[in-house]
Amino acid sequence: MSKTKTLFVCQQCGSSAVKWMGKCPSCGAWNSFVEEVIEKSKANTPQQGIKDGEIVALDSLNPEALTRLVTPDEELNRVLGGGIVPGSVILLGGEPGIGKSTILLQLALECKGIKLLYVSGEESLNQVKLRANRVGLTNPDCFIVAETVLENILEAGKKVAPEIIIIDSIQTVSSVELDSAPGSVPQIRESTAGLIQYAKKNHIAVFLIGHITKEGYIAGPKILEHMVDTVLYFEGDRHYNYRILRTMKNRFGSVAEIGIYEMGDKGLIPIKNPSEILLTARTQALSGISIAATLEGIRPMLIEIQALVSPSPYSTPQRTTTGYDAKRLSMLLAVLEKRCGMRINIYDVFLNIAGGLKVEEPAIDLAVIASLASSYHDMTIPLDTCFAGEIGLSGEIRPVNQIETRISEAEKLGFKTFYLSSYNKKSITRKYDSIKLIFEDTVENLLGQIFG
Ligand code: TYD
Ligand code: MG
Repeated sequence: MSKTKTLFVCQQCGSSAVKWMGKCPSCGAWNSFVEEVIEKSKANTPQQGIKDGEIVALDSLNPEALTRLVTPDEELNRVLGGGIVPGSVILLGGEPGIGKSTILLQLALECKGIKLLYVSGEESLNQVKLRANRVGLTNPDCFIVAETVLENILEAGKKVAPEIIIIDSIQTVSSVELDSAPGSVPQIRESTAGLIQYAKKNHIAVFLIGHITKEGYIAGPKILEHMVDTVLYFEGDRHYNYRILRTMKNRFGSVAEIGIYEMGDKGLIPIKNPSEILLTARTQALSGISIAATLEGIRPMLIEIQALVSPSPYSTPQRTTTGYDAKRLSMLLAVLEKRCGMRINIYDVFLNIAGGLKVEEPAIDLAVIASLASSYHDMTIPLDTCFAGEIGLSGEIRPVNQIETRISEAEKLGFKTFYLSSYNKKSITRKYDSIKLIFEDTVENLLGQIFG
């Protein structure tokens, strides 16, 4: 096969050279030259029935009519914005062993009637078959090939003519046109570019599995994330069986969606009602525990916040958080000290979000404050109580968005009392019969009301 012309390009300033250089002569950056193939036609986002370069009226387009492949996995459909867009390229990142191969193999086996090609670059065909046996699914439309050479993968794609191709993983794929080793930056970049072009041209959806580095980035160039249409991360805590599929970028949908799965002995099971698993089975109220009504995307979730405030043996007390921002915790502790007269500075504080979840939404502030005060006073909060509100520096309780969605979820799960901001009063349009809404304006008043 004839070699395509390649050039070495400085990743800092973009200047090019025919040979690799340790130091860029124009910007002075060290070790910034990377081999790139020159002259590749650009890949476009799928445009059904419109030729490249054709001029059309914007009003004549109807992206809603974009036909999506709706998969049997509802969590995945939602995360992708309603299904897989043909011709789109989706990067799935995650730590080793988290379940990336499992989720996509399961998808391949569940999509009956949709032709798929699973390209395994990491495991032998028998290893993949063993995993398929383990999840207990079969699909006559799922084809598999153990291949790592880009050109051969594209050839296999031509033969099978699938609607979906799964590449496990992009770090193992290399092009014969480059001399550098598989997994190197230029190879990953070149292989991705080749697959994107192929996906757009043939209207095939391509999933790329990508490894994550110690720092939590997809190994390889950051540009990979810019090139693809959608970036998903599969994450979870080693100590829990829950796995969360999160969108980091989506050209065809919202990035606020998450999908929740549980890893069992027979593969991943989508969790339809996350609140039920995130609330530990409780029969007795315990101090330091409160429930927050949070939102992930458009989906309401009730989560348990656990706090332990105990006298510190050291002059510098500890502040430890799991699943919650440590800076935000410091801010809330300062509010409790200053506005509620609690002497937190001589206590160690541990804060934990149950289920190994990470929550960034400030709407859980109110529940965090309540659990801290509950542990501090060693007084319990009734089991059927939950909270939603953001806290400002002066201790005021600020309103949160989509309050009615949160209240309805709490009501559905049998909660009887819901604490929220007084400013949310005007956003409530319906009456709630089985849940009592308690509006509060400041943290001081809230804690007075609960703990007396
Ligand atoms: P895998 O999909 O190989 O992870 P990745 O591709 O992200 O590296 O998943 C590996 C882990 O999942 C492994 O530790 C075994 C576990 N597992 C189960 O617990 N149950 C199952 O049914 C399967 C298939 C895997
Ligand atoms: Mg794998």
